[in-house]
Amino acid sequence: MSQTPPIDRSEAARRSQTPYITSMAAYNAMCDEAARDYECFWARHARRLLHWHRPFTKVLDETRAPFYTWFEDGQLNASYNCLDRHMESGNGDKAAIIFEADDGAVTRITYGQLFLRVCRFANGLKALGLGKGDRVVIYMPMSIEAVVAMQACARIGATHSVVFAGFSAKSLHERLADVGAVALITADEQVRGGKVLPLKSIADEALAMDGCEAVKYSIVYRRTGGQVKWAEGRDRWMDDVAAGQPDACEAEPVGAEHPLFVLYTSGSTGKPKGVQHSTGGYLLWALMTMRWTFTARSDDTFWCTADIGWVTGHTYIAYGPLAAGVTQVMFEGVPTFPNAGRFWEMIQRHKVSIFYTAPTAIRSLIKAADADEEIHPKRYDLSSLRILGTVGEPISPDVWMWYFKNIGNGHCPIVDTFWQTETGGHVIAPMPGATPSVPGSCTLPLPGIMAAIVDETGNDVPNGHGGLLVIKRPWPSMIRTVWGDPERFAKSYFPEELGGRLYLAGDGAIRDKDTGHFTITGRIDDVLNVSGHRMGTMEIESALGSHPLVAEAAVVGRPDDTTGEAICAFVVLKRPRPIGDEAARLAGELRAWVGREIGPIAKPKEIRFADNLPKTRSGKIMRRLLRSMSKGEEIAQDISTLENPSIIEQLREST
Ligand code: PRX
Repeated sequence: MSQTPPIDRSEAARRSQTPYITSMAAYNAMCDEAARDYECFWARHARRLLHWHRPFTKVLDETRAPFYTWFEDGQLNASYNCLDRHMESGNGDKAAIIFEADDGAVTRITYGQLFLRVCRFANGLKALGLGKGDRVVIYMPMSIEAVVAMQACARIGATHSVVFAGFSAKSLHERLADVGAVALITADEQVRGGKVLPLKSIADEALAMDGCEAVKYSIVYRRTGGQVKWAEGRDRWMDDVAAGQPDACEAEPVGAEHPLFVLYTSGSTGKPKGVQHSTGGYLLWALMTMRWTFTARSDDTFWCTADIGWVTGHTYIAYGPLAAGVTQVMFEGVPTFPNAGRFWEMIQRHKVSIFYTAPTAIRSLIKAADADEEIHPKRYDLSSLRILGTVGEPISPDVWMWYFKNIGNGHCPIVDTFWQTETGGHVIAPMPGATPSVPGSCTLPLPGIMAAIVDETGNDVPNGHGGLLVIKRPWPSMIRTVWGDPERFAKSYFPEELGGRLYLAGDGAIRDKDTGHFTITGRIDDVLNVSGHRMGTMEIESALGSHPLVAEAAVVGRPDDTTGEAICAFVVLKRPRPIGDEAARLAGELRAWVGREIGPIAKPKEIRFADNLPKTRSGKIMRRLLRSMSKGEEIAQDISTLENPSIIEQLREST
């Protein structure tokens, strides 16, 4: 490691001064500071927390609103900030990642080893001709190699776009084409819950479709050694790309606004949108929220159970924990394999101190613990825990209390973190030590985040009244644009109806009358949240609609005890409405079809057939009615405007 830059301990010590928020008064003071001098507030943190190759002189530029820029003339490198800095401060021997494979095998990698692997692989990518501005799609299982791939892209200034490895060939293809990828990084196979999924063959299928001609290389991480087909010239083993490459790779300084990544997420209309994030603002907030929300310290062992295919896995696996220099646990498998005690066993084994997961996982583990004493959390030593977190969907007060009592032993604060792919990091969340944890509420905005609730015209509503959740001022880690579609960005997030200057989250919210604490009441658009996964009803409808037998389909969400929301599809076939066994067979076929078109997470839980859909006289599908029906509610709405009232009976019968 002779190429490691010389250690400047004084510099490292200065930077490690962690701005935690340690009291309500400190929280209020921070909020006041942000309100008084917004740019100064952010500039102070950005200067202190990040290493800049070239310091910025400009902070926020609003002249091209809503295309805001932050720290625009500054230059930095995200990988330098996540790795090199720990070498400089003498932390090369500290464990960076403790990786636990599906079968329980544990691999530890230090910051020094991770740094070397990232450098060699980054050099390998450069040797293939990849560099600044290129887009690289990553379609990989949870693995140290996936983090190496993301960090290596960041190191050479390539923009990565990670696609969740549960998505189908078609979904992968759509994203490869939309982002204009020149390379794909994948694995031979993925292993989860004892099952093997042929990732490379799915990737091959995606690459064979029209529109991916620009992809020159498919780089393959050898996870299982299973059989794969090989395209000479295009395909390379990840090991071979890195082999023989120098141990040092200068981190490429990029402008603060340089796109670090594009991550696709569902909207209410059309195809998934590529959320583009910056380098400077994004990384700053990834690091700040590690400290403010999780109170991460250098001796913590942090575990975020999300997949790197979602934003949570970006901010709180690939970037935040590394930038903060903590040791983190990374897990390949699923919470229920080999049994539903796996999470608790892993917390015990690795002495996890900060644990971050989704309410949907907790809900299913509660059921499992109730059913089997052997895997009840009380059987495990969870005393290493000090902070618990949740993300992705509302956590109901009873689930919150179970988590608090059974996992946190009644003393770990729970941080219910509200945020989105677009916000880059937490925006509303408790700050342990300063603000309270409250069951059923994500509580208060982080300092610098001007969250508010407004009515349909953009006016503030008083506490105690529901409305639209907005953020009133741009913040550093916000979405910069929708890749390739700036108009869609402006329209979706800064709608004219609200005056064009408020960031519209797409969620409803309400603030407590007395405390002002926020509670998220759910999406206000046609976006569903199934097991914490975000999905557009339109995407599922068009997947169903592309089946040769389907004439028309409408998809709605209905509450579900385990998955939060469940997908319910109403389908009209091009042939008479099927009944009995035939209906069950066709429903199975359509579910499998959606699985192939989008991915297994999009399969409808329930499919109902009818001769038509309930429509108004002007031909609009009455979705509200479908929603009530999916919940089994009595139809309270006036159906006199319905073109075809008899349909209601049919849809009821088909349950
Ligand atoms: O509806 C909100 C819900 O998840 C949506 C964002 O989904 P996604 O972009 O996939 O990011 C998920 C991980 C950050 C939001 O619009 N959501 C997220 N966190 C919470 C939540 N709903 C309630 N409470 C939360 N803590």
